[in-house]
Amino acid sequence: MYSSSYARSSTFLYLILAVLIAKASFCFSAKVYVVYMGSITDQDSDDIVKENHQILASLHSGSIEQAQASHIYSYRHGFRGFAAKLTDEQVSQVSNMPGVVSVFPNSIRKLHTTRSWDFLGLANNNEAAEVVGHSIKNQTNIIVGILDTGFWPESPSFRDTDMPPVPPGWKGQCQIGEAFNASSCNRKVIGARYYAGGYEAEKGSDEDVSYKSPRDSLGHGSHTASTAAGRYVENMNYNGLAAGGGRGGAPLARIAVYKACWKSGCYDADLLAAFDDAIRDGVHIISLSVGGESPQADYFQDAISLGSFHAARNGVLVVASAGNEGNPSSATNLAPWIVTVAASAIDRDFTSDIILGNGVNITGESLSPLGLNASTRIISAADAFSGDFTPYQSSYCLDSSLNATKTKDVVLVCRHAEKSTKSKLEKSKIVQKAGGVGMILIDETKTGIAVPFVIPSAIVANIRGEQILSYIKSTRNPVSRIFGAKTVLGTQPAPRAATFSSKGPNTLTPEILKPDISAPGLNILAAWSPVAAAGNPKFSVISGTSMACPHISGIAALVKAVHPSWSPSAIKSAIMTTATILDNHQEPIKADPDGAIANAFDYGSGFVNPTRALDPGLIYDSQPEDFVAFLCSLGYDKKSLRLVTRDNSTCDGAFKTPSDLNYPSIAVPNLKDKFSVTRVVTNVGEATSTYEVAVVPPAGVNVTVVPNRLVFTTIGQKIKFTVKFKVAAPSNGYSFGLLSWKNGKRQVNSPLAVRVAPPSFGSFR
Ligand SMILES: *[C@@H]1O[C@H](CO)[C@@H](O)[C@H](O)[C@H]1NC(C)=O
Ligand SMILES: *[C@@H]1O[C@H](CO)[C@@H](O)[C@H](O)[C@H]1NC(C)=O
Ligand SMILES: *[C@@H]1O[C@H](CO)[C@@H](O)[C@H](O)[C@H]1NC(C)=O
Ligand SMILES: *[C@@H]1O[C@H](CO)[C@@H](O)[C@H](O)[C@H]1NC(C)=O
Ligand SMILES: *[C@@H]1O[C@H](CO)[C@@H](O)[C@H](O)[C@H]1NC(C)=O
Ligand SMILES: *[C@@H]1O[C@H](CO)[C@@H](O)[C@H](O)[C@H]1NC(C)=O
Repeated sequence: MYSSSYARSSTFLYLILAVLIAKASFCFSAKVYVVYMGSITDQDSDDIVKENHQILASLHSGSIEQAQASHIYSYRHGFRGFAAKLTDEQVSQVSNMPGVVSVFPNSIRKLHTTRSWDFLGLANNNEAAEVVGHSIKNQTNIIVGILDTGFWPESPSFRDTDMPPVPPGWKGQCQIGEAFNASSCNRKVIGARYYAGGYEAEKGSDEDVSYKSPRDSLGHGSHTASTAAGRYVENMNYNGLAAGGGRGGAPLARIAVYKACWKSGCYDADLLAAFDDAIRDGVHIISLSVGGESPQADYFQDAISLGSFHAARNGVLVVASAGNEGNPSSATNLAPWIVTVAASAIDRDFTSDIILGNGVNITGESLSPLGLNASTRIISAADAFSGDFTPYQSSYCLDSSLNATKTKDVVLVCRHAEKSTKSKLEKSKIVQKAGGVGMILIDETKTGIAVPFVIPSAIVANIRGEQILSYIKSTRNPVSRIFGAKTVLGTQPAPRAATFSSKGPNTLTPEILKPDISAPGLNILAAWSPVAAAGNPKFSVISGTSMACPHISGIAALVKAVHPSWSPSAIKSAIMTTATILDNHQEPIKADPDGAIANAFDYGSGFVNPTRALDPGLIYDSQPEDFVAFLCSLGYDKKSLRLVTRDNSTCDGAFKTPSDLNYPSIAVPNLKDKFSVTRVVTNVGEATSTYEVAVVPPAGVNVTVVPNRLVFTTIGQKIKFTVKFKVAAPSNGYSFGLLSWKNGKRQVNSPLAVRVAPPSFGSFR
């Protein structure tokens, strides 16, 4: 019998008692906390559970019943700790117990809500196709763990036709549950589990926990899993749009599903339980399209930082999304042992033509196939205000703000504000309810995200919206016709940094440049959960860094397939140093919505290039002990570090600053006069090769690299170099540059992000 049955039966027990606790909760107001206790030693995992119950009993004056009732999870495979309901007083007691590193509340995380592979240069139509010069056959031995909302087992993206038997050494399981039995897993999805303890403890059993099993009721997890490693599907489309064959990044790799996210999000207690199992089960890559709100909590208080730290120590690469907040300094999942993924637009748009009565043809965006059959009267929603609403309010098409007498059978021009509580889709429903037959939505958020409207509709930018409104004013009988959406390829330069993608600098450790890499994340087609949308679609087009993340997870699986012995850091380095910062017009990548030149805070090292990532030439490697030295350099105390690592780690000053971590990019957040950074590259290309440096210095900074030539004679050889930064001119904010090692055949790139410290007494003279 699988050993976590104890944890599950305790969870079950908890459920029965939850009702009683909920009734009594005002007396002692217990909340769910995660108690984190560092690495596991060679202790038996059942003993860990017993010890956790002893700790809990001691907090409950020896009561075993109360201890069991408060226990939610024990973490005992990848790391130690537990989740439990605790009062404030119990929190302070347990915080001071030996072995406890940190205690933090059970926060909720949000989901960071196919053409894309053609665009990335991988053959889209043949899942067995090899990449020139590399065999990727070994991907059937690579296991990608997806921590998300589960998956839809009947989706063609998850079929196991012609897949070889499950790789030996796989320790995961297929956890049966609601609408999910043993045959729901197969040789493609080789394991699936679900985690609801933390969610139910917060939400109570009333909250809709649909499918108490790994089955996905929301679509997000099916989408991310199929993007990373879905099988080739011949005719994928959404409402007839984006039609064609589609596949995941590593279509023959195995998927292991860990459902830790539910309708309103993913709780820390559940995410950590999923990490704990995934590490033990033997996944190679964890893909996590989930994150907290910025600013991110300290590394020892953040479940994703901790779970991924232990994954990295166990040789598992964690790939996570940067977030969808879009502003400077909003990137999350900032730990240097995570690959943090930003989102880009690709060269595909879903457009909807709007023809005005004066013949003007305006291109809008939509995912709706619906169109108007004839030119139809068009009015501004501001002119259709109802009752107590002002024209300003009705111009946003707020619920009940529209006068149905005026809106019947017309096309309405509505606005959409940045902070709108209604989605764009919901606005089309409001207009429909008011009797409108079409909608043009002026998008003040400018995200470029296409929407499957319920009536003929199109999104236009501000400037086009004003054009339409002035046409309406200019004539007595304004009309327009909206055409159904169509797929348009190659219209604009691509990739472009997506408006919503969260950006650097890194607010927690500015010496580590974040995000790390960019991948397609705007209007991505992949598998869906048929119960999650009207019309039961098998596929859907959605946007977010959530969609960018699994593109990188799939590519990481290919790199791992070609180079099975590489460390997580080496795989990450290969993906980062081979990325491009040029678009398909060979010009610097631009950022939506205004076309400004993008920089490393938008896309990290650049837009991913999967073919080049298989053959990076040089890598910037790091070992788990380097991450400990990194934490030491941040001032974490030795006592808690030793608990985290459970070994004789000392903070012996191996790293003087976090800049000493051998990271594949370089950020210098506060350059006063001079600063040097050392890096070590390992030769993974030809045994004999010589690289020369090329530097594009950031504005106002002089950069010297010593030595400027690296001569390798063996594979695996490591050479150290120093990058010296010197202030040349005062400057404002960050400026960006590039350091490249070139050998004629390859170019190994690292972005440079440098901020010159503001002048103070004694510096500039
Ligand atoms: C359960 O297994 C049977 C075959 O044994 C299968 O026909 C059925 O569809 C499965 N049910 C679910 C919900 O997957
Ligand atoms: C509107 O313009 C676009 C781009 O110029 C063109 O492709 C499209 O056919 C035009 N639509 C109509 C209905 O004329
Ligand atoms: C347009 O015409 C098609 C086919 O004649 C019809 O199915 C559809 O309902 C019409 N749409 C509208 C908005 O009238
Ligand atoms: C709606 O518009 C009609 C026609 O202009 C008007 O008579 C009526 O009073 C309006 N109703 C409200 C609730 O504003
Ligand atoms: C730590 O050091 C002590 C004393 O040198 C040694 O006995 C112990 O085995 C070491 N522990 C580990 C985990 O290396
Ligand atoms: C920076 O480099 C330029 C060009 O090599 C040189 O002329 C200048 O003196 C340098 N500035 C500093 C402050 O070292």
